[in-house]
Amino acid sequence: MQLQYKKVLIFGATSGIGWALASKFVETGTSVVVVGRRKERLDDFAKQHGNTEGATVDTAIFDITDLKGIPGFANDMFKKHPDLDCVFLNSGLQRKINWAEPESVDLDTIELEMLTNYTAFMHLTKMFLPLLQKQAPKKTGIIYTTSGLALVPILYCSNYCASKAALHHMILAMREQLREAKSNVKIIELLPPSVQSELHEHEFCDKGKQMGMPLKDFTEEAFEGLCKDGKEGEQVPVQAVKDMMGFNGWEQERQKAMFKMWVGYPSAD
Ligand SMILES: NC(=O)c1ccc[n+]([C@@H]2O[C@H](COP(=O)([O-])OP(=O)(O)OC[C@H]3O[C@@H](n4cnc5c(N)ncnc54)[C@H](OP(=O)(O)O)[C@@H]3O)[C@@H](O)[C@H]2O)c1
Repeated sequence: MQLQYKKVLIFGATSGIGWALASKFVETGTSVVVVGRRKERLDDFAKQHGNTEGATVDTAIFDITDLKGIPGFANDMFKKHPDLDCVFLNSGLQRKINWAEPESVDLDTIELEMLTNYTAFMHLTKMFLPLLQKQAPKKTGIIYTTSGLALVPILYCSNYCASKAALHHMILAMREQLREAKSNVKIIELLPPSVQSELHEHEFCDKGKQMGMPLKDFTEEAFEGLCKDGKEGEQVPVQAVKDMMGFNGWEQERQKAMFKMWVGYPSAD
């Protein structure tokens, strides 16, 4: 099994899901450029995977909340790697919020979470999409990591859930607009359930690392989904997201309703 892309630029690859999937890509012959803020982690990744036969590894330090820096970063990246055919937007952060104690709600944290999980992705998409479109008719792709929490909110991190729900809606519409335009860019959404990673560590200390499904099991299932061709590989719900969190059930009804509202759109048929 292999991804249909030859070289992937992965944001948020210094730990957790990004690190694990980037490792899997390299092991299966797909080259990667891994991005994050922590240089030592990027160096570790290059050390561990840099000598893999059949795939190359490059690293780049970048903070995606530096919105003004995104155009320069995107152009430099494609100058250095004109063969990049996939961009994987996976960075993210999660913070607790309790509206029963409004004095504890930190608006700067709300803004940072929305900036990291949503607004920065829009800026990155705006810059990277034309660079991928230019490669037509070559098939290219953008992968977004949302969450099962984009479909069903939980109480303790409602702003995080809202940021992922916003991204989910944007992706649904963006994908159909590009389909209408017969674009060479495939829009892919990866929806993880709770997975053991550093995401929960900030709010739950070491206990947070134990939350969710083992990263190894997640990676295998997610990778299999990402390798699927055509429409089947456009939405990749993993484990609990499929049934418990409604992807196979009412989320399908919601997406049908979306097409009903777009009467006249050929892709609604
Ligand atoms: N783990 C779960 O239960 C779960 C469930 C559903 C969805 N997800 C989503 O999966 C994605 C990966 O999360 P994870 O669980 O693997 O968590 P993680 O281990 O904490 O990884 C988060 C990654 O995002 C990067 N990042 C955060 N802020 C950034 C910024 N401003 N600029 C650049 N990179 C930044 C981090 O790199 P640096 O710190 O080095 O910058 C790190 O590589 C996130 O979008 C998360 O919301 C996770």
